[in-house]
Amino acid sequence: MATATLKSLSEVIKERHSIRKYDPDFKISRQEVEEILDEAITAPSSSNLQPWRFIVFDNENTKKELRAIANNQEQVETSSVVIAVLADKEMYHNIERVYRSAFEAGYMDEANMERLIKSANSTYPHASEEVRKNIAFFDTGLVSMQIMLLAKAKGYDTVPMGGFDKVQFRERFNVADRFEPVVLISLGKAAAPAFKTTRIPLKEIIEYK
Ligand SMILES: Cc1cc2nc3c(=O)[nH]c(=O)nc-3n(C[C@H](O)[C@H](O)[C@H](O)COP(=O)(O)O)c2cc1C
Repeated sequence: MATATLKSLSEVIKERHSIRKYDPDFKISRQEVEEILDEAITAPSSSNLQPWRFIVFDNENTKKELRAIANNQEQVETSSVVIAVLADKEMYHNIERVYRSAFEAGYMDEANMERLIKSANSTYPHASEEVRKNIAFFDTGLVSMQIMLLAKAKGYDTVPMGGFDKVQFRERFNVADRFEPVVLISLGKAAAPAFKTTRIPLKEIIEYK
């Protein structure tokens, strides 16, 4: 059986750059999008509460509407799909479910499950909205990066976009108050290379103590 040569993580990381010109005729199936998301949600999160939700835009008319509230950015319409990553500020609703599932999978005993549920319940619901928002934003950043690297590993391209009107997004796509739209990720096949970018040298941003 022929097996595709897998790229190393380093190669994938080096090859990923923000693509803003896409082949508009290239379509990625829902199954493939779900394969990427299914792997991406292995990302770590605070107390494993997984404060993320996704809205996948693959309808041409809806993508047009989304482009209008995303600073008219072309890639919103020309990429195959746009994945909106939302942060769940009320991630504590997942506490019971997450730890029960680990218990049912045999990963912890019942006493440990009860202890972890109690501990998380004594923290997250009482934290300020700002604290919960920061946690949820951090965790959605982690899952977003996984999406982009997985896409690159499969030969696709992405660009993360914070440039969209979050108020209009919420209204148009019926996003409940509990969720914050964080980033839109265009996913598709590049039609032109990314702009070259540089990085501030490591020696300027690292220190040892
Ligand atoms: C949170 C975030 C928001 C961004 N928003 C946009 C955006 O709205 N439009 C865009 O074209 N690029 C956007 N970018 C892409 C950055 O410009 C890009 O990642 C950066 O210039 C480095 O280039 P590279 O991704 O090609 O390595 C965003 C990146 C991040 C991480």
